[in-house]
Amino acid sequence: MAKYAALSLFLYSILVAHSTTLNKRVSAASDTCDFPAIFNFGDANSDTGAFATMFTSRPPTFGQSFFGGNAGRPSDGRLIIDFLASSLGLPFLHPYLDSFGANFSHGANFANILSTIALPTTNIIPAARRPRGTNPVSLDIQIAQFAQFVTRSQTQGKKFKKLMPKKEYFAKALYTLDIGQVDLSDQIFDHKTDDEIKAILPDLISTLSSNIKSLYSLGGRTFWIHNTGPLGCLPILLTVAPVPDDQLDSAGCAKRYNDLAQYFNNLLKKGVDQLRKDLPLAAFTYVDVYSAKYSLYQEPKKYGFTHPLESCCGYGGKYKFEENSLCGSTIIVNGTQFVVEPCERPAEYINYEGVTYTEAADRITSARISSGKFSHPPNSLRAACQK
Ligand SMILES: *[C@@H]1O[C@H](CO)[C@@H](O)[C@H](O)[C@H]1NC(C)=O
Ligand SMILES: *[C@@H]1O[C@H](CO)[C@@H](O)[C@H](O)[C@H]1NC(C)=O
Repeated sequence: MAKYAALSLFLYSILVAHSTTLNKRVSAASDTCDFPAIFNFGDANSDTGAFATMFTSRPPTFGQSFFGGNAGRPSDGRLIIDFLASSLGLPFLHPYLDSFGANFSHGANFANILSTIALPTTNIIPAARRPRGTNPVSLDIQIAQFAQFVTRSQTQGKKFKKLMPKKEYFAKALYTLDIGQVDLSDQIFDHKTDDEIKAILPDLISTLSSNIKSLYSLGGRTFWIHNTGPLGCLPILLTVAPVPDDQLDSAGCAKRYNDLAQYFNNLLKKGVDQLRKDLPLAAFTYVDVYSAKYSLYQEPKKYGFTHPLESCCGYGGKYKFEENSLCGSTIIVNGTQFVVEPCERPAEYINYEGVTYTEAADRITSARISSGKFSHPPNSLRAACQK
Protein backbone atom coordinates (compact mmCIF):
# COMPACT_ATOMS: atom_id res chain seq x y z
CA MET A 1 0.00 0.00 0.00
CA ALA A 2 2.77 2.37 1.02
CA LYS A 3 4.58 1.40 -2.16
CA TYR A 4 1.53 2.25 -4.21
CA ALA A 5 1.14 5.64 -2.54
CA ALA A 6 4.78 6.44 -3.22
CA LEU A 7 4.37 5.45 -6.85
CA SER A 8 1.25 7.52 -7.36
CA LEU A 9 2.98 10.49 -5.73
CA PHE A 10 5.86 9.97 -8.13
CA LEU A 11 3.50 9.79 -11.12
CA TYR A 12 1.62 12.80 -9.88
CA SER A 13 4.79 14.86 -9.58
CA ILE A 14 5.78 13.94 -13.12
CA LEU A 15 2.36 15.08 -14.29
CA VAL A 16 2.65 18.35 -12.38
CA ALA A 17 6.16 18.97 -13.64
CA HIS A 18 5.03 18.27 -17.18
CA SER A 19 2.00 20.52 -17.01
CA THR A 20 4.15 23.31 -15.52
CA THR A 21 6.47 23.15 -18.52
CA LEU A 22 3.44 23.15 -20.76
CA ASN A 23 2.04 26.21 -18.99
CA LYS A 24 5.34 28.01 -19.46
CA ARG A 25 5.31 27.26 -23.14
CA VAL A 26 1.73 28.42 -23.48
CA SER A 27 2.45 31.71 -21.73
CA ALA A 28 5.49 32.35 -23.90
CA ALA A 29 3.37 31.77 -26.98
CA SER A 30 0.74 34.25 -25.81
CA ASP A 31 3.40 36.95 -25.33
CA THR A 32 2.74 37.53 -21.67
CA CYS A 33 5.53 39.26 -19.81
CA ASP A 34 5.91 38.74 -16.11
CA PHE A 35 6.69 42.15 -14.63
CA PRO A 36 7.45 41.85 -10.90
CA ALA A 37 7.78 45.64 -10.48
CA ILE A 38 7.23 49.03 -12.12
CA PHE A 39 9.51 52.03 -11.87
CA ASN A 40 7.88 55.24 -13.05
CA PHE A 41 9.26 58.67 -13.97
CA GLY A 42 7.32 61.77 -14.93
CA ASP A 43 5.21 64.77 -13.98
CA ALA A 44 1.70 65.42 -12.63
CA ASN A 45 0.26 62.85 -15.01
CA SER A 46 1.73 60.09 -12.85
CA ASP A 47 2.66 61.63 -9.48
CA THR A 48 1.14 59.41 -6.78
CA GLY A 49 2.16 61.71 -3.91
CA ALA A 50 5.74 62.96 -4.21
CA PHE A 51 4.87 66.62 -4.67
CA ALA A 52 2.34 66.50 -1.86
CA THR A 53 5.07 65.13 0.41
CA MET A 54 7.79 67.56 -0.66
CA PHE A 55 5.84 70.77 -0.85
CA THR A 56 2.18 71.23 -0.03
CA SER A 57 -0.52 68.69 0.56
CA ARG A 58 -3.36 68.38 -1.90
CA PRO A 59 -6.82 69.60 -0.83
CA PRO A 60 -8.75 67.02 1.23
CA THR A 61 -11.36 66.68 -1.51
CA PHE A 62 -8.84 65.14 -3.92
CA GLY A 63 -9.28 61.40 -4.26
CA GLN A 64 -13.04 61.55 -3.65
CA SER A 65 -13.97 59.04 -6.35
CA PHE A 66 -11.76 56.18 -5.30
CA PHE A 67 -9.56 56.73 -2.27
CA GLY A 68 -12.23 58.41 -0.16
CA GLY A 69 -10.01 61.43 0.34
CA ASN A 70 -6.65 62.96 -0.45
CA ALA A 71 -4.30 60.26 -1.72
CA GLY A 72 -1.58 62.65 -2.88
CA ARG A 73 -2.70 62.42 -6.48
CA PRO A 74 -3.77 65.47 -8.52
CA SER A 75 -7.09 63.80 -9.33
CA ASP A 76 -10.42 62.65 -7.91
CA GLY A 77 -9.11 59.08 -8.09
CA ARG A 78 -6.68 56.81 -9.84
CA LEU A 79 -4.18 57.97 -12.44
CA ILE A 80 -3.15 56.09 -15.57
CA ILE A 81 -0.13 54.65 -13.73
CA ASP A 82 -2.48 53.25 -11.05
CA PHE A 83 -4.64 51.53 -13.67
CA LEU A 84 -1.59 50.16 -15.46
CA ALA A 85 -0.18 48.74 -12.21
CA SER A 86 -3.53 47.12 -11.33
CA SER A 87 -3.92 45.61 -14.76
CA LEU A 88 -0.53 43.92 -14.29
CA GLY A 89 -1.66 42.62 -10.90
CA LEU A 90 0.73 44.93 -9.04
CA PRO A 91 -0.01 47.27 -6.12
CA PHE A 92 -0.16 51.06 -6.58
CA LEU A 93 3.30 52.60 -6.75
CA HIS A 94 4.48 54.31 -3.61
CA PRO A 95 6.30 57.63 -4.15
CA TYR A 96 10.02 57.24 -3.55
CA LEU A 97 10.04 60.49 -1.59
CA ASP A 98 7.20 59.56 0.77
CA SER A 99 8.38 57.77 3.89
CA PHE A 100 4.91 57.06 5.28
CA GLY A 101 3.94 53.43 4.78
CA ALA A 102 6.55 52.95 2.10
CA ASN A 103 6.52 49.51 0.52
CA PHE A 104 8.69 49.32 -2.56
CA SER A 105 8.61 45.55 -2.96
CA HIS A 106 6.91 45.87 -6.37
CA GLY A 107 8.28 49.19 -7.58
CA ALA A 108 8.59 52.86 -6.84
CA ASN A 109 7.38 56.11 -8.33
CA PHE A 110 9.80 58.98 -8.99
CA ALA A 111 7.30 61.26 -10.78
CA ASN A 112 6.69 64.73 -9.40
CA ILE A 113 4.15 67.43 -10.29
CA LEU A 114 5.67 70.20 -12.47
CA SER A 115 8.78 68.12 -13.21
CA THR A 116 10.51 68.86 -16.47
CA ILE A 117 12.97 67.13 -18.78
CA ALA A 118 15.09 70.27 -18.79
CA LEU A 119 17.09 71.25 -15.73
CA PRO A 120 15.24 74.06 -13.97
CA THR A 121 17.13 77.34 -14.12
CA THR A 122 15.00 79.86 -12.26
CA ASN A 123 12.41 80.13 -9.51
CA ILE A 124 12.88 76.79 -7.87
CA ILE A 125 9.69 77.15 -5.90
CA PRO A 126 6.91 75.30 -7.64
CA ALA A 127 3.44 76.77 -7.52
CA ALA A 128 0.36 76.30 -9.62
CA ARG A 129 -0.10 80.02 -10.20
CA ARG A 130 2.34 82.54 -11.64
CA PRO A 131 5.17 82.92 -11.17
CA ARG A 132 4.85 79.16 -11.29
CA GLY A 133 8.47 78.33 -10.71
CA THR A 134 9.80 74.93 -11.55
CA ASN A 135 10.17 71.72 -9.63
CA PRO A 136 13.79 71.04 -8.65
CA VAL A 137 13.13 67.32 -9.15
CA SER A 138 13.63 67.35 -12.91
CA LEU A 139 14.13 64.13 -14.84
CA ASP A 140 17.90 64.06 -14.18
CA ILE A 141 17.20 64.18 -10.45
CA GLN A 142 14.52 61.48 -10.69
CA ILE A 143 17.06 59.21 -12.38
CA ALA A 144 19.70 60.09 -9.77
CA GLN A 145 17.17 59.16 -7.07
CA PHE A 146 16.52 55.87 -8.83
CA ALA A 147 20.28 55.17 -8.98
CA GLN A 148 20.40 55.58 -5.18
CA PHE A 149 17.32 53.42 -4.85
CA VAL A 150 18.93 50.57 -6.81
CA THR A 151 21.91 50.48 -4.46
CA ARG A 152 20.29 51.31 -1.16
CA SER A 153 17.30 49.03 -1.59
CA GLN A 154 19.74 46.12 -1.59
CA THR A 155 21.63 47.16 1.53
CA GLN A 156 18.80 47.80 3.97
CA GLY A 157 19.33 44.78 6.19
CA LYS A 158 16.87 42.17 7.27
CA LYS A 159 14.30 44.48 8.84
CA PHE A 160 13.44 46.32 5.62
CA LYS A 161 14.27 43.64 3.07
CA LYS A 162 10.61 42.69 2.64
CA LEU A 163 9.76 46.25 1.68
CA MET A 164 12.34 46.38 -1.10
CA PRO A 165 12.36 44.88 -4.60
CA LYS A 166 14.51 41.80 -5.12
CA LYS A 167 17.75 42.45 -6.97
CA GLU A 168 16.61 40.55 -10.06
CA TYR A 169 13.47 42.70 -10.32
CA PHE A 170 15.44 45.62 -11.78
CA ALA A 171 16.11 43.71 -15.01
CA LYS A 172 12.59 42.25 -15.18
CA ALA A 173 10.66 45.40 -14.27
CA LEU A 174 8.61 47.66 -16.50
CA TYR A 175 10.06 51.19 -16.74
CA THR A 176 7.38 53.77 -17.53
CA LEU A 177 7.94 57.41 -18.51
CA ASP A 178 5.51 60.28 -19.08
CA ILE A 179 7.26 63.65 -19.16
CA GLY A 180 7.58 66.75 -21.35
CA GLN A 181 4.20 68.41 -20.83
CA VAL A 182 5.58 70.99 -18.40
CA ASP A 183 8.58 71.76 -20.61
CA LEU A 184 6.17 72.66 -23.41
CA SER A 185 3.60 74.55 -21.35
CA ASP A 186 6.32 76.62 -19.62
CA GLN A 187 7.48 77.79 -23.05
CA ILE A 188 3.94 78.73 -23.99
CA PHE A 189 3.38 80.63 -20.74
CA ASP A 190 6.66 82.46 -21.41
CA HIS A 191 5.16 83.71 -24.73
CA LYS A 192 7.80 81.95 -26.84
CA THR A 193 7.10 81.70 -30.56
CA ASP A 194 6.63 78.35 -32.31
CA ASP A 195 10.09 78.65 -33.87
CA GLU A 196 11.69 79.37 -30.50
CA ILE A 197 9.91 76.41 -28.92
CA LYS A 198 10.71 74.01 -31.77
CA ALA A 199 14.35 75.02 -31.56
CA ILE A 200 14.76 73.71 -28.00
CA LEU A 201 12.96 70.39 -28.53
CA PRO A 202 15.83 68.35 -30.03
CA ASP A 203 17.88 69.06 -26.89
CA LEU A 204 14.97 67.98 -24.70
CA ILE A 205 14.59 64.72 -26.58
CA SER A 206 18.30 64.01 -26.34
CA THR A 207 18.21 64.68 -22.57
CA LEU A 208 15.29 62.27 -22.30
CA SER A 209 17.16 59.66 -24.36
CA SER A 210 20.32 59.95 -22.31
CA ASN A 211 18.29 59.52 -19.11
CA ILE A 212 16.74 56.37 -20.56
CA LYS A 213 20.26 55.15 -21.34
CA SER A 214 21.11 55.75 -17.68
CA LEU A 215 18.15 53.59 -16.68
CA TYR A 216 19.43 50.93 -19.04
CA SER A 217 22.88 51.05 -17.47
CA LEU A 218 21.22 50.65 -14.08
CA GLY A 219 19.58 47.45 -15.27
CA GLY A 220 16.35 48.49 -17.02
CA ARG A 221 15.39 46.50 -20.11
CA THR A 222 11.71 47.15 -20.79
CA PHE A 223 10.58 50.71 -21.43
CA TRP A 224 7.02 51.96 -21.91
CA ILE A 225 7.23 55.58 -23.04
CA HIS A 226 4.17 57.83 -23.19
CA ASN A 227 4.13 60.74 -25.59
CA THR A 228 2.64 64.01 -24.41
CA GLY A 229 -1.10 64.69 -24.39
CA PRO A 230 -3.19 67.32 -26.17
CA LEU A 231 -2.03 70.39 -24.23
CA GLY A 232 -4.36 72.63 -26.19
CA CYS A 233 -7.41 71.03 -24.57
CA LEU A 234 -6.36 71.78 -20.97
CA PRO A 235 -8.28 74.43 -19.00
CA ILE A 236 -4.99 75.91 -17.73
CA LEU A 237 -3.65 76.54 -21.25
CA LEU A 238 -7.00 77.71 -22.63
CA THR A 239 -7.31 80.19 -19.76
CA VAL A 240 -3.79 81.41 -19.05
CA ALA A 241 -2.66 81.52 -22.70
CA PRO A 242 -6.00 82.01 -24.51
CA VAL A 243 -6.19 81.90 -28.30
CA PRO A 244 -8.79 83.61 -30.53
CA ASP A 245 -11.89 81.50 -31.30
CA ASP A 246 -10.84 80.93 -34.90
CA GLN A 247 -7.75 79.12 -33.60
CA LEU A 248 -9.81 76.53 -31.74
CA ASP A 249 -10.41 73.21 -33.47
CA SER A 250 -13.74 71.39 -33.79
CA ALA A 251 -13.28 69.94 -30.29
CA GLY A 252 -12.69 73.41 -28.83
CA CYS A 253 -8.98 72.86 -28.23
CA ALA A 254 -6.22 75.33 -29.12
CA LYS A 255 -4.76 74.08 -32.40
CA ARG A 256 -1.39 75.76 -31.94
CA TYR A 257 -0.65 74.05 -28.63
CA ASN A 258 -1.77 70.67 -29.89
CA ASP A 259 0.41 71.09 -32.98
CA LEU A 260 3.38 71.83 -30.72
CA ALA A 261 2.59 68.73 -28.67
CA GLN A 262 2.50 66.68 -31.89
CA TYR A 263 5.77 68.20 -33.05
CA PHE A 264 7.35 67.15 -29.75
CA ASN A 265 5.79 63.69 -30.13
CA ASN A 266 7.22 63.18 -33.61
CA LEU A 267 10.70 63.96 -32.34
CA LEU A 268 10.15 61.70 -29.34
CA LYS A 269 9.09 58.85 -31.61
CA LYS A 270 12.28 59.27 -33.65
CA GLY A 271 14.28 59.41 -30.42
CA VAL A 272 12.75 56.11 -29.31
CA ASP A 273 13.53 54.58 -32.75
CA GLN A 274 17.16 55.60 -32.23
CA LEU A 275 17.19 54.10 -28.71
CA ARG A 276 16.00 50.81 -30.21
CA LYS A 277 19.05 50.85 -32.50
CA ASP A 278 21.47 51.95 -29.78
CA LEU A 279 20.24 49.44 -27.17
CA PRO A 280 19.25 46.28 -29.07
CA LEU A 281 18.92 44.22 -25.88
CA ALA A 282 16.13 46.44 -24.56
CA ALA A 283 12.44 46.60 -25.54
CA PHE A 284 10.92 50.01 -26.18
CA THR A 285 7.25 50.76 -26.62
CA TYR A 286 6.31 54.26 -27.75
CA VAL A 287 2.74 54.90 -26.59
CA ASP A 288 0.56 57.42 -28.38
CA VAL A 289 -1.25 58.73 -25.32
CA TYR A 290 -1.96 61.91 -27.28
CA SER A 291 -4.37 60.15 -29.65
CA ALA A 292 -5.99 58.14 -26.87
CA LYS A 293 -6.67 61.31 -24.86
CA TYR A 294 -7.61 63.49 -27.82
CA SER A 295 -10.34 61.11 -28.94
CA LEU A 296 -12.14 61.82 -25.64
CA TYR A 297 -12.44 65.47 -26.68
CA GLN A 298 -13.55 64.53 -30.17
CA GLU A 299 -16.46 62.40 -29.01
CA PRO A 300 -17.09 63.40 -25.38
CA LYS A 301 -20.76 62.33 -25.32
CA LYS A 302 -19.84 58.79 -26.31
CA TYR A 303 -17.93 58.51 -23.03
CA GLY A 304 -20.39 60.43 -20.87
CA PHE A 305 -18.38 63.65 -20.66
CA THR A 306 -20.92 66.45 -20.64
CA HIS A 307 -18.30 69.08 -19.67
CA PRO A 308 -15.27 68.12 -21.77
CA LEU A 309 -13.33 71.38 -21.58
CA GLU A 310 -14.14 72.62 -18.07
CA SER A 311 -12.25 71.53 -15.01
CA CYS A 312 -14.25 69.60 -12.42
CA CYS A 313 -12.61 71.42 -9.53
CA GLY A 314 -12.10 75.09 -10.26
CA TYR A 315 -13.96 78.34 -10.40
CA GLY A 316 -14.62 81.09 -12.91
CA GLY A 317 -14.29 81.74 -16.61
CA LYS A 318 -15.31 79.70 -19.59
CA TYR A 319 -13.24 76.68 -18.51
CA LYS A 320 -13.92 76.81 -14.75
CA PHE A 321 -10.30 77.60 -14.11
CA GLU A 322 -8.74 80.76 -12.75
CA GLU A 323 -5.28 81.01 -11.28
CA ASN A 324 -6.64 82.83 -8.25
CA SER A 325 -9.38 80.34 -7.52
CA LEU A 326 -7.70 76.97 -7.84
CA CYS A 327 -9.28 73.80 -6.55
CA GLY A 328 -9.26 73.80 -2.76
CA SER A 329 -8.49 77.49 -2.36
CA THR A 330 -10.61 79.92 -0.36
CA ILE A 331 -12.04 82.73 -2.46
CA ILE A 332 -14.43 85.63 -1.97
CA VAL A 333 -17.17 86.14 -4.55
CA ASN A 334 -19.75 88.94 -4.17
CA GLY A 335 -18.61 89.42 -0.58
CA THR A 336 -19.11 85.76 0.34
CA GLN A 337 -16.17 83.58 1.23
CA PHE A 338 -16.09 79.96 0.13
CA VAL A 339 -13.79 77.08 -0.70
CA VAL A 340 -13.50 75.92 -4.33
CA GLU A 341 -14.88 72.40 -4.17
CA PRO A 342 -14.87 69.67 -6.83
CA CYS A 343 -17.89 69.12 -9.03
CA GLU A 344 -20.49 66.62 -7.85
CA ARG A 345 -20.04 64.21 -10.74
CA PRO A 346 -16.37 64.05 -11.76
CA ALA A 347 -17.17 61.28 -14.27
CA GLU A 348 -18.86 63.93 -16.45
CA TYR A 349 -15.57 65.81 -16.78
CA ILE A 350 -12.36 64.93 -18.60
CA ASN A 351 -10.25 67.33 -16.57
CA TYR A 352 -10.02 67.44 -12.82
CA GLU A 353 -8.33 70.64 -11.61
CA GLY A 354 -7.19 72.37 -14.78
CA VAL A 355 -4.11 70.30 -15.58
CA THR A 356 -4.64 66.62 -14.86
CA TYR A 357 -7.41 64.24 -15.82
CA THR A 358 -10.29 62.74 -13.88
CA GLU A 359 -10.31 59.11 -12.86
CA ALA A 360 -13.06 58.53 -15.46
CA ALA A 361 -10.86 59.87 -18.27
CA ASP A 362 -7.74 58.09 -17.04
CA ARG A 363 -9.60 54.81 -16.76
CA ILE A 364 -10.62 54.96 -20.43
CA THR A 365 -7.18 56.11 -21.58
CA SER A 366 -5.48 53.34 -19.58
CA ALA A 367 -7.68 50.63 -21.03
CA ARG A 368 -7.09 51.87 -24.55
CA ILE A 369 -3.31 52.24 -24.30
CA SER A 370 -2.97 48.87 -22.52
CA SER A 371 -4.50 47.13 -25.52
CA GLY A 372 -1.56 47.93 -27.78
CA LYS A 373 -3.73 49.83 -30.26
CA PHE A 374 -1.80 53.01 -29.51
CA SER A 375 1.63 51.42 -29.26
CA HIS A 376 4.60 51.28 -31.56
CA PRO A 377 5.43 48.42 -31.94
CA PRO A 378 1.79 47.35 -31.44
CA ASN A 379 2.46 45.52 -28.17
CA SER A 380 -0.12 45.40 -25.43
CA LEU A 381 1.08 46.38 -21.96
CA ARG A 382 1.45 42.70 -21.07
CA ALA A 383 3.63 42.12 -24.12
CA ALA A 384 5.81 45.21 -23.67
CA CYS A 385 8.87 43.04 -22.97
CA GLN A 386 8.74 41.72 -26.55
CA LYS A 387 10.99 43.43 -29.05
C1 LIG B 1 4.32 45.02 0.61
O1 LIG B 1 3.47 44.98 -0.49
C2 LIG B 1 3.30 43.69 -1.04
C3 LIG B 1 2.48 43.82 -2.31
O2 LIG B 1 1.28 44.48 -2.08
C4 LIG B 1 2.64 42.78 -0.02
O3 LIG B 1 2.48 41.48 -0.55
C5 LIG B 1 3.52 42.73 1.21
O4 LIG B 1 2.87 41.99 2.22
C6 LIG B 1 3.82 44.14 1.73
N1 LIG B 1 4.81 44.02 2.76
C7 LIG B 1 4.63 44.45 4.00
C8 LIG B 1 5.74 44.18 4.98
O5 LIG B 1 3.65 45.09 4.33
C1 LIG C 1 -21.97 87.28 -8.18
O1 LIG C 1 -22.71 88.34 -8.74
C2 LIG C 1 -22.90 88.26 -10.15
C3 LIG C 1 -23.60 89.54 -10.61
O2 LIG C 1 -24.75 89.77 -9.84
C4 LIG C 1 -23.68 87.00 -10.50
O3 LIG C 1 -23.84 86.89 -11.90
C5 LIG C 1 -22.92 85.79 -9.98
O4 LIG C 1 -23.67 84.61 -10.21
C6 LIG C 1 -22.65 85.94 -8.48
N1 LIG C 1 -21.78 84.83 -8.09
C7 LIG C 1 -22.02 84.08 -7.01
C8 LIG C 1 -21.06 82.98 -6.76
O5 LIG C 1 -22.94 84.28 -6.27
